[in-house]
Amino acid sequence: MADKRKIVVTSALPYANGDIHLGHLVEYIQTDFWVRFQKLRGNECVYVCADDTHGTPIMIRARKEGITPEELIARSHAEHMRDFTDFQVKFDNYYTTNSPENKALSERIYAAMEASGAITRKFTPQLYCEHCKMFLPDRFVKGTCPKCGAENQYGDSCDRCGATYGAEELGSPKCTTCGAAPVVKDTEHLYFELEPQHDYLEKWIPGHTTSDVSNKLLEWFKEPLRGWCISRDAPYFGFEIPGHPGKFFYVWVDAPIGYIASLQSWCSQNGKNLEDYWPTTGGGEGSGVELYHFIGKDIIRFHCLFWPGMLHAAGFKGPDKVFVHGFLTVNGEKMSKSKGTFVNARTYLDNLPPEALRYYYAAKLGGTTDDMDLNLADFVQRVNSDLVGKITNIASRGGQMLQKKLEGRLGALDEEGRALVEKCRAASETIAKFYEDRRFNQVVVEICRLADAANEYFDRREPWKTVKTDAEATRTTLTAALNAFRLIAIYLKPILPAYADKAMKLFGETEWTWDSLGETLENRSLGEYEYLANRIDSKQVDAMITAATVKPGESGEVSHESRASKNKDKGSANRGTENGESVPLKPEVAFPDFDKLDFRVGVVESCEIVPKSSKLLKFTLDAGSLGKRTIFSGIRGAYPDPAALVGKEVVFVANLAPRKMSVGVSEGMILFAGEPGVNGGVVSPFAAAGGGTPVT
Ligand code: 2FM
Ligand code: ZN
Repeated sequence: MADKRKIVVTSALPYANGDIHLGHLVEYIQTDFWVRFQKLRGNECVYVCADDTHGTPIMIRARKEGITPEELIARSHAEHMRDFTDFQVKFDNYYTTNSPENKALSERIYAAMEASGAITRKFTPQLYCEHCKMFLPDRFVKGTCPKCGAENQYGDSCDRCGATYGAEELGSPKCTTCGAAPVVKDTEHLYFELEPQHDYLEKWIPGHTTSDVSNKLLEWFKEPLRGWCISRDAPYFGFEIPGHPGKFFYVWVDAPIGYIASLQSWCSQNGKNLEDYWPTTGGGEGSGVELYHFIGKDIIRFHCLFWPGMLHAAGFKGPDKVFVHGFLTVNGEKMSKSKGTFVNARTYLDNLPPEALRYYYAAKLGGTTDDMDLNLADFVQRVNSDLVGKITNIASRGGQMLQKKLEGRLGALDEEGRALVEKCRAASETIAKFYEDRRFNQVVVEICRLADAANEYFDRREPWKTVKTDAEATRTTLTAALNAFRLIAIYLKPILPAYADKAMKLFGETEWTWDSLGETLENRSLGEYEYLANRIDSKQVDAMITAATVKPGESGEVSHESRASKNKDKGSANRGTENGESVPLKPEVAFPDFDKLDFRVGVVESCEIVPKSSKLLKFTLDAGSLGKRTIFSGIRGAYPDPAALVGKEVVFVANLAPRKMSVGVSEGMILFAGEPGVNGGVVSPFAAAGGGTPVT
């Protein structure tokens, strides 16, 4: 094998204020496959990660719980570690971004960025509470969603329609601390200018990620790159920026630096030198160390633009590749709390074995940015038929028979048996290449192909019959089948480490490396046969879904710093919310057609439920010079309390032909906007003209 490589690997840091869920695990599990594969190959591979602990949501969550942010992050750290350990995700170091190493590194990188001339200052308008005497971070202000009109929404995104916006766009904003209406005031912020690195990044990107990711990113390079705001005003849980009292590093500045800090902490614990693992001067050219980030496609911009820009400006080594994966869907849809498909790691573990998910994820992951579907019926079926019925079956049938009937002793291979074992061995470099390329699904295909061959051999030799008449021929058969299984189990080790360990014990061995594939076990005793994997039942899946189902009214809190809000990124289904579905537009309307409509403003005088109708509300509008209008609207689902609409201004189409309905005549149409599908197909009113303010 080629020389031992030195590799540093990271997965994105999970926020410290949320539970690990199956979406997160798509990333940690696949990174773990890759790291374990590298280690099995004999490479030196260090896998570091940490909790992402800074930012406003952590502060708010701690405040709500009446604890300090430090207490909250200590608790999350313990919970996250437990989840990862139980899913057999093995970090070399799992740290925290709230560490002295991270503070020192953040300050150092910032100082280098500043020295390179990349930091500028700009005044930007932000909401300020005169009463609390502070600028309000997005999560300290609530108001009306500018998109769907939902009330009581935070300053970054709407819980109801998923829209992202700036806090200053909210209708009727209120400070969440004191309830006062904030004012807009200028505050100074620090920006990291990327335009000086335009050429560098434009050249860097294509070689450091896949072409689909790179092509998308390169679209931005047609224009000058905009600076990135890297400061936040106090109060903020994070690191204060040296020389700027009251200003803190935005969480997305010190989060990726947390990769280096975690590595540094690993170095200290293991007597190593950070410089040998993550060169911090001169860009690390020719250092021989390889650096890889595994991330979801929602955080590409941070890892393929800002981060390499920061590292380059500071002279630190940049990643060799950023491996981007897609989101998780469950049964073909976005994970949903109300459908019970937004499943936390712990809820899964309470009901199902970790191996089943690891196996299924491997079978589905192809190293691309495509979304991955966890189809629950397919999950049960594949685990049972392939992992248990096909792969494990070789060991359970062969191992048990050898133990029970043939003193647990392997014999020698005959020609046919040797051919089977050689076939399994011959797949090694193909499988290694699939692992290296993160085509885990192809690894599983190969493994199943080999297991099919072993089962076919087993069935053809009918050891359950020969054992009655010819013990030694049976021993020969089982020796081949078990040697084939042994090679398969070695191939499976990165995917199913605990399973492989049990299999290894069956063969009385103490360590498996990729070189162990070169050995054939003959004429020796087996160890104890331990159950390797059990069938799973759809009832276990049902129980998990029931446990994960959030009923209406229960909180399905998703509270992390919205990376979307400031950057207009779309979608974050993998690591957080269930929002953001897009709905196709109706065909274009020519202006002369639009111009035929006469919009007027009216005041809701009364609004009542229409008996025997589940959808309709009856509005009486005071339409000023036009008199009173009665309008029926099918939006009852959005307004459990119609009386609350009384007194609101609405925009309505005043010249629509009256429409005779079973409940009466509707004299116009009130304007509503929203996305069908949200709230079960109902829409929300929004004043599109006239008064200009949303009506709710
Ligand atoms: O998206 C997230 O969940 C972030 N906490 C990921 C941070 S990754 C890194 F940059 F630190
Ligand atoms: Zn206030």
